[in-house]
Amino acid sequence: MACGGRADESDRTVITISSSVVGTDGPLLKRQIDRFMRAHPNIDVRFHRVSDDATQRHQLFVQWLNARAGDPDVLELDVIWTSEFAAAGWLLPIKDPSIDTTAFFQGTMEACRWGGALYAVPWYADVGLLYRRTDLVPRKPRSLEELTQFAQHAVRTVPFGLAWMGARYEGLVTVFVEYLGAFGGRIMDDSMRVTVESPAAVQALTFMRDQITPLKIAPRDVLTWHEEETRFAFQNGRAAFMRNWPYAYSAMADSNQSRVAGKYAVSPMPAAPGGRPTAALGGAQLGINRWTEHPAAALALVAFITAAEQQLERAVAIGEFPTRRAIYDEPALRAALAIPADDARRAVESATPRPVTPLYTQLSELLQIELHRALAGQVTPEVALRAAARRMNGVIEKTGLREYMFGRPAVSAQ
Ligand code: GLC
Repeated sequence: MACGGRADESDRTVITISSSVVGTDGPLLKRQIDRFMRAHPNIDVRFHRVSDDATQRHQLFVQWLNARAGDPDVLELDVIWTSEFAAAGWLLPIKDPSIDTTAFFQGTMEACRWGGALYAVPWYADVGLLYRRTDLVPRKPRSLEELTQFAQHAVRTVPFGLAWMGARYEGLVTVFVEYLGAFGGRIMDDSMRVTVESPAAVQALTFMRDQITPLKIAPRDVLTWHEEETRFAFQNGRAAFMRNWPYAYSAMADSNQSRVAGKYAVSPMPAAPGGRPTAALGGAQLGINRWTEHPAAALALVAFITAAEQQLERAVAIGEFPTRRAIYDEPALRAALAIPADDARRAVESATPRPVTPLYTQLSELLQIELHRALAGQVTPEVALRAAARRMNGVIEKTGLREYMFGRPAVSAQ
């Protein structure tokens, strides 16, 4: 029998799950929640939709959790938040033996742990993909140079060569991570020293900036775009290329809503000489609010939504990549994803994670500000990235995180 403040008259336990909705995933999640409630007649699940701007969603969750609100009970966490929320004491450790942690990709699982304990369960994996219009572009670009050439050629026919998320929020960092890797750079080295002022990083940001000015193959509007604005530009037939996540693939397939149905394909982002093709690793996990009044019901919901059956259904219905490795062998998955299932599995395994640290949000915000300033033409990429590296390293020094992560004596900063 339910007890506590939020049981309703019929003695049902009421729990809330909070998540964003992009593309077509809203109705699917609702179907799965309904199925869960049929299997658990004593639990009533309410869905609380939140912004699909990852940075805004983060701010909202921080406000709720900081205020010790028990609602929402289950949280959709971006892969980059779990260590921060766990370190703050905002998530319940997950100790359910029925959750087989070895069934998931190692990288997605690592992002769910903090201090040796598990604080979330991987839900779906995101990898950055390059979408292209097959009627405008001869084939997948094999280098960044070719990407530019194809985009320059395409702007004779469509308004934009490339569309990507360049608003000042987390999505911009994921785009940057991909160009950074494409030029051979990274955000941090193994001793947690921020390296975003490296020559490779300057080249990467210059390449992004040049797309806007002087090449004019990406519109200045990208500086305000998130995932969905980017998708709409491509879906409405206005762009030859788009950088986006897997969800966009099936979301644009319906010819009633999409002008490009049947006219697009997907490939990895290409690289420059000296770099490597890079896809940012993103995705979501489900965690349980530390102040929930219904931990058992919350855990049951997390286990249900992340179970193989629901993950397979999600992949088939909306093309999102599962976090359980075995699902990639399912025949039903073969035609469901943007790329063949084996390639998708490899893409998740080789995608580039963002640093796993409780300071990630702070560091990312500093980077976002400077990236955006450079893209808007207010400062040069060199100046922006030098400032970003200085501020980001300053935060790491001030908090002593390096010592915490590596123990004493600290890995010397050179
Ligand atoms: C997607 C990814 C997430 C990333 C965000 C950025 O939601 O899954 O990891 O941080 O996009 O916009």
